[in-house]
Amino acid sequence: MPALDDLAREICLCRKCPALVKSRTLVVPGCGPDDAPILFIGEAPGYNEDQQGLPFVGAAGAFLDELLASIKLKRDEVFITNIIKCRPPENRDPLPTEISNCNPWLESQLGRLKPRMIVTLGRYSLARFFPGKTISKIHGTAQKRNGVIYFAMYHPAAALHQGTLRQTIIEDMARIPGLLAQASKVAEDDQPRQMSMF
Ligand code: URA
Repeated sequence: MPALDDLAREICLCRKCPALVKSRTLVVPGCGPDDAPILFIGEAPGYNEDQQGLPFVGAAGAFLDELLASIKLKRDEVFITNIIKCRPPENRDPLPTEISNCNPWLESQLGRLKPRMIVTLGRYSLARFFPGKTISKIHGTAQKRNGVIYFAMYHPAAALHQGTLRQTIIEDMARIPGLLAQASKVAEDDQPRQMSMF
């Protein structure tokens, strides 16, 4: 099975969405070590990400770096990607076809990384992993399914638009180390299950 770097090279050749192929500068497959315990999943690359080919390198990324530092993590210790890997023109919302075209790439990343924890950032990522749920109701809460902890957070950019969310996002982030520690103490289940942790 190709490692995540090989997969990233394949993702960069993707031509499934004609509008995105036309408008993109660089594909943004995501980055992080192959053995990262935590996978953060945002929405889609923005202007800076499209220019650099790296996720979360603009203003929202600077806040994400701060959030990681607040729980003593560095960017190169986690894996960061997006629901779609190409910037939508004018930063419009990703289209349903673009999300479904890109989903196999995300699935392949999940299969290779096998993270212990998946953190959803914002509503597109929430919709993929917590279908039917609302971010304002479930942010800061976790579910354990098949040995993986799923944790819902507001998108870091939300704090840039709505300052009052900043503290909420910081507090939600602060729960991550405890959840990971708690999960490593609990013996792994053989049976698939869905467990609400809070
Ligand atoms: N917002 C996202 O959702 N992803 C990025 O990579 C940058 C901004």
